[in-house]
Amino acid sequence: MSVYQERLEQLKQQPHVWLITGVAGFIGSNLLETLLQLGQKVVGLDNFATGHQRNLDEVQSMVSPEQWASFHFIKGDIRHLEDCRAAMRFSESAPVDYVLHQAALGSVPRSINDPITSNATNIDGFLNMLVAARDAGVKSFTYAASSSTYGDHPGLPKVEDIIGKPLSPYAVTKYVNELYADAFARCYGFNTIGLRYFNVFGKRQDPDGAYAAVIPKWTAGMIKGEDVFINGDGETSRDFCFIENTVQANLLAATATDESARNQVYNVAVSGRTTLNTLFEQIKLALASNGIGYEKSPVYRDFRAGDVRHSQADISKIKNMLGYSPAYDIKNGIARAMPWYVGFLK
Ligand SMILES: NC(=O)c1ccc[n+]([C@@H]2O[C@H](COP(=O)([O-])OP(=O)(O)OC[C@H]3O[C@@H](n4cnc5c(N)ncnc54)[C@H](O)[C@@H]3O)[C@@H](O)[C@H]2O)c1
Repeated sequence: MSVYQERLEQLKQQPHVWLITGVAGFIGSNLLETLLQLGQKVVGLDNFATGHQRNLDEVQSMVSPEQWASFHFIKGDIRHLEDCRAAMRFSESAPVDYVLHQAALGSVPRSINDPITSNATNIDGFLNMLVAARDAGVKSFTYAASSSTYGDHPGLPKVEDIIGKPLSPYAVTKYVNELYADAFARCYGFNTIGLRYFNVFGKRQDPDGAYAAVIPKWTAGMIKGEDVFINGDGETSRDFCFIENTVQANLLAATATDESARNQVYNVAVSGRTTLNTLFEQIKLALASNGIGYEKSPVYRDFRAGDVRHSQADISKIKNMLGYSPAYDIKNGIARAMPWYVGFLK
């Protein structure tokens, strides 16, 4: 049995109380679905800045009524300390054990267009969450960090200790999260775990809007028969990580018992490297096997400001220290995600 399977069995035996911020978003709603199916109690906090009620409705449709009754949703904003404090308990007698802090404004271009709003949510909101969680005495605090922290460092694969300068306001915010987390360990003995996600994808990732991520954006474009744009020459590469791997990383991090595993950051990816040109073909093929043909060629345009050229993670640290073992590569992940997009968009 893998470390993850063992941990899942333990959770099924003993329910805990979890707080997921950003619960109505892509990653948050997938965490919610898994935790409720494991019989856990979950408090969710979201202000619907980029998340959707429809994501929560879909989770409700995938769990039993008893499991859904173990979910307590708070519409609130992490920029307000009192909302963060209010989210630290499921009920009077059930304080939060594990925090999975996902709420943030994602997207490099969004942060370039509006750095002040990204800063307020991603830095002020993060600090509020740290303070509220520290004061509530939670068992663990796991947060969404980002591969954007590697910035302009050219080395590949990316190893946690070697970072460059941030290339965007978004990257600054995610790096500052790590600095605050480390300062909280030093000043208050409050040890957190940061998960540097590398291009997560899967069901419920929003295909709409100017700041949509590449896989849902292209998938939607292909399903609707629209042009698909590649920024640059298509040889930009990424380590795409299927959502179920990301869920695994969160559950392993939150429940890690070894003290030396805390006050650390970990890459969360599969250590693959896929160019945008290859990704285009992979999505096209996966849609074809769902009965959707796309005949157009991609339209190439300028490189996008703030984007790193190549990204690939070294995942030895998370494997060795947390027992992470990604179950999906990009091909299997895309095969799993496409039927959902076809159902959602048709
Ligand atoms: N998806 C990726 O590839 C990726 C990569 C690296 C890091 N991340 C990080 O992972 C986390 C989750 O990302 P996602 O892809 O699920 O994005 P998402 O936009 O789908 O989810 C973010 C959620 O946070 C909520 N939120 C935003 N501001 C808030 C606020 N002030 N108060 C309360 N809730 C607020 C949004 O409404 C949304 O539901 C983010 O921290 C993001 O920066 C994601």
